[in-house]
Amino acid sequence: MAAIRTRTDSAASTRIFNESYFAFPAVLDACVKDGIKTIAIAGDLTDDGQVATMDGALALLQHYSETHGVRFFLTPGNHDVFAMSGRHHTKAFYTKDGGIASVTSNRQLVQGEGAVLEERMFCRSYSDLAPLWAPYGIQRQEKDHYWECPFGVDDAFDKRMFEIASRDGSVIHRQLDLSYLVEPEPGLWLVAVDANVFEPRKGCKDGSHFDAVSDSTDAGWNSLVRLKPFVLDWLANVSARAKIQGKTLVCFSHYPAIDTYDGTVADEDFLFGATQAVRRTPWTMTSNAVARTGIGIHFSGHLHVADTSTIEVDGTRLTNVALPSPVAFPPGFAVVTGDFRGVSADLRRVEFDRFDAFFPFYRNDAKADSSWIEASSYGQFLYGHVAQLVRNRYLPHEWPTDLARVFNQASLEDLFALAKIAEPVAAGDFVSQRVGGLSAIDLVVDWYAVRKGSEFALQFIPSNRLELYFKLIAEYGCRQWADPACLQSQVKLFLDMMARYLGADATAREAV
Ligand SMILES: [Fe+2]
Repeated sequence: MAAIRTRTDSAASTRIFNESYFAFPAVLDACVKDGIKTIAIAGDLTDDGQVATMDGALALLQHYSETHGVRFFLTPGNHDVFAMSGRHHTKAFYTKDGGIASVTSNRQLVQGEGAVLEERMFCRSYSDLAPLWAPYGIQRQEKDHYWECPFGVDDAFDKRMFEIASRDGSVIHRQLDLSYLVEPEPGLWLVAVDANVFEPRKGCKDGSHFDAVSDSTDAGWNSLVRLKPFVLDWLANVSARAKIQGKTLVCFSHYPAIDTYDGTVADEDFLFGATQAVRRTPWTMTSNAVARTGIGIHFSGHLHVADTSTIEVDGTRLTNVALPSPVAFPPGFAVVTGDFRGVSADLRRVEFDRFDAFFPFYRNDAKADSSWIEASSYGQFLYGHVAQLVRNRYLPHEWPTDLARVFNQASLEDLFALAKIAEPVAAGDFVSQRVGGLSAIDLVVDWYAVRKGSEFALQFIPSNRLELYFKLIAEYGCRQWADPACLQSQVKLFLDMMARYLGADATAREAV
């Protein structure tokens, strides 16, 4: 009966789990309604690549293919597949009697910790998953007008292996790369880059062992440029041929090729340290290397943000369209249109009626914070999820303790008053005056909301709050404090980052 994940797990995760049962078909139905026949999924099709989850998702794709004539094209994310070994997973589920059971594919945990054994919790390896994904771009299909991969036109998996070395060069593994170019309809070249990079660890010669490689989660294009350079050579070649042949090039991978946080990452590193966002942002030299291939536009997933960024290197432009997820804030997908002269993306919000289908289970979960499940729409439910993440993940795990305490205790009025104190105040010395109004936590939640959604987030934030935020940004923006580490300087930097999340698009300011 293990089918429903706990609310506590969702509250601390970068995405929600159970609602995807409705959210994903809602996206597919919207596409079918619009007559869309080609759907590309930028990785992380599943929660964690569990056999049961992946098989369920693939059955759904097969159903839409057969019923509506839709073709799907996949590229692996870090949650779909794990290296050449696969890996075990253990997750908590509600039980029939309202309890919580730990379910695992790992027999050792069953004996040691009393977890329930379910072998379909295992995440497959590349070689086990690849044949199952064959119909979805990974191998040539009869309907394709053209197909190739970085290794040529042979789609056999044993011809798509490459060598990858550990950082010290002492260990070399052979791994499978699932990049491909497909022409599903005349003139459209869809390029899927397998940007998962599993770097061998020093001393781990057997690449089939789970701990022989580092996780791909933080690697992305920064590691791809170093460890899979053949992909960049191939992209440059594809891009040149697309121009000569007048093809419409649409390139996608799981990871962003350009910073999606509006140039704030160095400031985030200064304020918080090496957070998840800092670790996952492509470096300038990485983005430049991708731009030089001439692909022009690239669509990414992974970060659950809606953001478009463009760079120009030696007269060649590269635009990265970061796609939101249907199961994280802001819930969305993109409809891409265009021709050989260029393509553009129209962002759509995901909504469906049964967003509250699991609320009765959540209400029974005594361990969960109860303020979240009063949402009146799916979008509001995910906006509420951002607040959960702020309390359960970002403040306790990513923020310095002193700064987290200040924002946990302060009101917005406190922050206005703090701006007027010329003498630097240390975060540890801050005492809230407990004046009423909005709490600083509300500001933090909306800071993350606009960081994730850019202007797409504005439809969720009340306008009176936004007005106050801009007043606060202006209040700190016109002042300087001598000590860059004092509390006022930290708040100023925090607000300046928010302004950049919003200011990246002029319509955001106009909306306010
Ligand atoms: Fe991901």
